[in-house]
Amino acid sequence: PDEREENETEKGLRVADKGFLNTAVITSEITYIDGEAGETAYLLIYGSLPSKAMYDIFEGEVMHHSIAHSDAEGLFRAFRYDAHPMSILTSAIASLGSMYSEANPSLQGQTLYTKGDAVSLANMDKQIFRLIGKATTLAAMAYRVRQGRKFVTPPAGLSYTGSFLYQMDHLGEDGYMPSPVFAKALDVLFLLHADHELNASCTTVLQTASSLVDPYSAVAAGCASLYGPLHGGANEAVIRMLISIGSPENVPAFIEAVKRREKVLSGFGHRVYKTSDPRSFIVRKTADEVFKVTGKDELLETAMRLHEVAMKDEYFIKRKLAPNVDFCGLIYRAMGFPLDFFPVLFAVPRVVGWLAHWRQMMLQAGGVKIWRPRQVYVGPSRRDYVPIEDRV
Ligand code: ACO
Repeated sequence: PDEREENETEKGLRVADKGFLNTAVITSEITYIDGEAGETAYLLIYGSLPSKAMYDIFEGEVMHHSIAHSDAEGLFRAFRYDAHPMSILTSAIASLGSMYSEANPSLQGQTLYTKGDAVSLANMDKQIFRLIGKATTLAAMAYRVRQGRKFVTPPAGLSYTGSFLYQMDHLGEDGYMPSPVFAKALDVLFLLHADHELNASCTTVLQTASSLVDPYSAVAAGCASLYGPLHGGANEAVIRMLISIGSPENVPAFIEAVKRREKVLSGFGHRVYKTSDPRSFIVRKTADEVFKVTGKDELLETAMRLHEVAMKDEYFIKRKLAPNVDFCGLIYRAMGFPLDFFPVLFAVPRVVGWLAHWRQMMLQAGGVKIWRPRQVYVGPSRRDYVPIEDRV
C-alpha cells in the first residue's frame, strides 16, 4: 500500500527486530572484572583501575555524597507503609533531579558535558558520586520508612556495603554492627550486579538520557525498568515461586505446568547466556558461606530439585535454559531481608553500571544522538473518516 512506501524508501536498512534481539544501538568499551567493589565501580566508570590516591578521592566523594538532602525525609514520609520499596526508590531517585538543578541541561544549556573540559567533567563526576553515594541511603530509607523507623545518617569508617547494612539495621537490633560475613556476601553480590551490558534497564537509562535529560531522571527510569519480574524483579519472583511450589516433591508437577505455559519459571533463561549464567556459580558459593552462619534455607531443597529436574528435561535442554543470577534471592532471604526488598538490592549496585554507560554515551565522539527506533507499520492503509452519527 502507498502509505507503507515511506517505510521502504527511508534512508538505511530497517528491520523489524522485536525486543532488540539483534540490534546494537551503541558502541561500548565498558567491561567487567572481578575485584574490590569500590575499585570495580571506578573501573566501570573511568575505564581503568585507580591509583591509591585516586581511589581515596573517589571513595571519599561517594561517601561524602551519601548523606540525603534534608528535603528527602518529607518525601519519604509521604509514602504508604505498604508501598513496594522499588516504587519508593524509583520516586526518590527521580526527586533528586528536583534538588540538584546543576544537573539539569535545560537550565544549564545543552552542552553540559564536554570531553576535555575540566569544569564540565567535574560537574558530571559530582552527579555520579551523588547517585552512587545516595543509592544506599535512599534504599535504606525506603526500607526503614515502611516500619515507621527513624532514618540513620550514613556512618563514617564503614565500607559501602557495611554502611548500607548499618543504615538499614535490617535485623532491628540495638547497636547493630553488620556481620562481616553478610557485608562480604553483599559485596560479592554487588560486584556481580554492578553491570551487565545493555539489558532492559541499562537500555532504558540510555534511551531516556539520549534526550539529554538529567541523570537522576534517567537512572529513575532504569529503576522502573529493573523492577519488572522479567528483569530485576525476578529475584523476588524466584522466592515467591519456591514458596508456592511448597516442597521438593511438588517440583515435577510444577515443571509440567511451566511446559504447558501455565506457570512461570522465574530465575531461568537469559537473552544473552545460552549456557549457564556464570554469575550463578558465584551465587551458589556465596550462598554456602552465608548458610554457614544462618543455617540452610528451607527453600533450598526445592530450589535444588527444580534445578535437577529442569536441567534433565528436553524442553529446557532444547531451549538452552539454565539458572540465571536471580537465585541470589535465597541469600537475601537467609540474611533476613524482606522479599520485596530484593530488587532494591539489585538496583543499588546497578546504578554504577548505568552511570558508566551514561557517562560513556555523553562523552562519545560526535555527541549524543537521540534514540528514536522506527517501527514496521502493518496496520490498515487508508481509511476514510466516518462521522460519529454514521458509525455502527
Ligand atoms: N521458563 C520456561 N520457558 C522459558 C523461560 C522460562 N524461564 N525462559 C524462556 N523460555 C522459553 C520461551 O517460552 C521460548 O520458548 P518457545 O521458543 O517455545 O516460544 C524459549 O524459551 C526462548 O525464550 P525467549 O522468551 O525467546 O527468551 P528471551 O530472551 O526473550 O527472554 C527472559 C529472556 C526474559 C530472561 C526469559 O528467559 C524469562 O522470562 N525468564 C524468567 C524471568 C527471569 O528469570 N528474568 C531474569 C533475567 S536475568 C536478569 O535480568 C538479571
